[in-house]
Amino acid sequence: MRVQVAIIGAGPAGLLLGRLLQNRGIETVIVERRSRAYVLGRIRAGVLEQGTVDLLDEAGVGQRMHAEGLVHRGVEFSFDGDRHRFDFEDLIGRRVMVYGQTEVTHDLMAARDASGALTIYEADHVSVDDFDSANPRVRYVKDGVAHEIACDFIAGCDGYHGVSRASVSPDSLRTFERVYPFGWLGVLSETPPVADELIYAHHERGFALCSMRSPTRSRYYVQCASDEDVARWTDDRFWDELRSRLDPETAEQLVTGPSLEKSIAPLRSFVAEPMRFGRLFLAGDAAHIVPPTGAKGLNLAASDVRYLAEGLIEFYGEGSEAGVNAYSSRALARVWKAERFSWWMTSILHTLPNTDSFGRRIQRSEFDYLVGSRAAAQSLAENYTGLPV
Ligand code: APR
Ligand code: PHB
Repeated sequence: MRVQVAIIGAGPAGLLLGRLLQNRGIETVIVERRSRAYVLGRIRAGVLEQGTVDLLDEAGVGQRMHAEGLVHRGVEFSFDGDRHRFDFEDLIGRRVMVYGQTEVTHDLMAARDASGALTIYEADHVSVDDFDSANPRVRYVKDGVAHEIACDFIAGCDGYHGVSRASVSPDSLRTFERVYPFGWLGVLSETPPVADELIYAHHERGFALCSMRSPTRSRYYVQCASDEDVARWTDDRFWDELRSRLDPETAEQLVTGPSLEKSIAPLRSFVAEPMRFGRLFLAGDAAHIVPPTGAKGLNLAASDVRYLAEGLIEFYGEGSEAGVNAYSSRALARVWKAERFSWWMTSILHTLPNTDSFGRRIQRSEFDYLVGSRAAAQSLAENYTGLPV
């Protein structure tokens, strides 16, 4: 088989790239290691920046998002029980959309199916080869039969554990990493959200987040040890712990119920540079990871894909390599700003295991500064709702 662009991974990055390219008549194939049901079963974050909303609209997949997504004009922070609302609309005239990554993935898959573009699920032994030449190849095994795809470019959209970054010679790659000494224990429940907007809570027992998927479905998180065993967390224990970290008024209003999903995610910051190796590009989690505190993971995948699609559309439309040549540096400039913001949100909101009383006072003063300074609050709002692409 021969295509113009072979895409590895059917997460949001791969599916959105495929959609943007197909819309311009550029042929793609997506090769995904897992089944469609597995990909759709993953529960991940759910806050979309305006730029991500716009890109999904441009891609023609925004209809259900506008019908079912929740537009939020602010978030709340709670610090040892003191609450403050940051009104993004008032601060900088911008909003965010609460719409689960699972739903975004679902909409992109449905659009791809309707377009007739090919996605190969449950592909084994996927390899990316010859991307230093003009004739890159993707190889895989499906139902015991070996296949080969010849292409012009390979887009590695295969997440942190994917094969694309792992196929690059270590001398041409530089990585930057910070692993945080804690994780997030998340629960999804069919209960009304405790508040209309998200609440990010700092508490001496640890961070907590109150989020949502719809007016009847909530998503909550509590900071936990990174090696915590999820089996030790009954629903009751989770709800008690969450309640203990919220201000009394919110704790009082919390509606609890059986968990639909419960899982632990480690927190990590990671960047690989560059994001292009000959005719192989990395996009999304394949190139970088952020801790979920700033809700930037999916949004960064979307902005990478915007830059990459622009470069490839320019290449096929005008024969110019300028866009693909600029891809890595354009994407990384935005990635590092989101890395900074996610690291900062993580640092001020969590209980840091080895911090001293000085460190705790600095965290408190970060909160007090945000509450007291419109400039500081605008900076938070500008980053949370998304820096310009
Ligand atoms: N071959 C083919 N597919 C692979 C391989 C492989 N060797 N390894 C991984 N994959 C697939 C995974 O099964 C997954 O479906 O690549 C896909 C990568 O998708 P995501 O992990 O969702 O990454 P991305 O599309 O970059 O989306 C970024 O996901 O993890 C969140 O916070 C992150 O919200 C952000 C978003
Ligand atoms: C979520 O709803 O899952 C969510 C929201 C905001 C975050 C992280 C996760 O910062």
